[in-house]
Amino acid sequence: MSESTLPRRVVVTGATGKLGRAVVAHLRAVGVDVLAVDRVGGRDPRDVDGEFLLVDLTDYGQVVEAFTGGADEHAGGDAIVHLAAVPAPGLMSNATTFANNSAATYNVFAAARAAGIKRVVWASSETVLGLPFDTPPPYAPVDEEYAPRPESTYSLNKALEEEMARHFCRWDPELVMVGLRFSNVMDVEDYAPFPSFDADPRLRRWNLWGYIDARDGAQAVERALAYDQPGADVFVIANADTVMTRSSASLMAEVYPGVEIRKELGEHETLLSIDKARRVLGYEPQHSWRDHVDVL
Ligand SMILES: NC(=O)c1ccc[n+]([C@@H]2O[C@H](COP(=O)([O-])OP(=O)(O)OC[C@H]3O[C@@H](n4cnc5c(N)ncnc54)[C@H](O)[C@@H]3O)[C@@H](O)[C@H]2O)c1
Repeated sequence: MSESTLPRRVVVTGATGKLGRAVVAHLRAVGVDVLAVDRVGGRDPRDVDGEFLLVDLTDYGQVVEAFTGGADEHAGGDAIVHLAAVPAPGLMSNATTFANNSAATYNVFAAARAAGIKRVVWASSETVLGLPFDTPPPYAPVDEEYAPRPESTYSLNKALEEEMARHFCRWDPELVMVGLRFSNVMDVEDYAPFPSFDADPRLRRWNLWGYIDARDGAQAVERALAYDQPGADVFVIANADTVMTRSSASLMAEVYPGVEIRKELGEHETLLSIDKARRVLGYEPQHSWRDHVDVL
């Protein structure tokens, strides 16, 4: 993907979080000018190197300032990458998760619109595919072709964000909004226990044994920022393989014997389909946990 198609300056929310740190580092490495924002961090250089603004996204005025250059010493942005959220079910009360995440995302979408910003990339989630799959998936690999099946308040909010994006794009035909349905985010240091997952295939069935290396997640953000087709679209973003050393076909046969398998599966092929992201965004994972852990 040509660097010239990338926006010049991007505001990244959730910048001191797990995915945000990787995204900020990656975008800066490919030459994008980044304003990193979060409600925590900023004074500690281990959180974010470079330009940082402390923002609580539940306060609309703070978001507008960040996006328009209203805050002293910080210009606004040409595009937004919105990653800030309470990042999973069960971390905070459902109502708190909903109140924070829905307000933050509404404010980000609305402030981008008010600022005339035409590109918004944001973190949706694999959870909208029906995690934890107590109800089996409709088929495998799962993809973007069936309606969201949120099973938690966290996921319900992600599904509502996808719907909200569709309406923002209906209101503004020039707007490009890309929702990335990230799988479970991993840093390299998270890979050590992966071989132990093999002992019990049910341990990681909740997301069909998927994961996303934070560096590949950052690559997906770069690709999405370069995407220029107006309208709202969503993409599953996972790594090309599973967390298991057993074959993907044998996992499905044992754990979900009644589920239709819609393609010939490679040995460790992801069951969270990244075919659309590959085809439309040019996304191609560069990393695997197998490169970091000795696998028998
Ligand atoms: N971690 C995963 O496995 C996973 C999987 C799928 C999707 N996601 C999504 O990816 C995004 C990033 O997740 P992460 O793993 O980096 O989470 P994280 O908790 O490490 O980072 C999220 C950041 O958002 C910030 N934040 C939350 N509410 C805020 C607010 N009101 N104002 C300003 N900042 C706020 C937090 O301070 C934190 O630094 C989230 O949207 C999450 O829902 C994560």
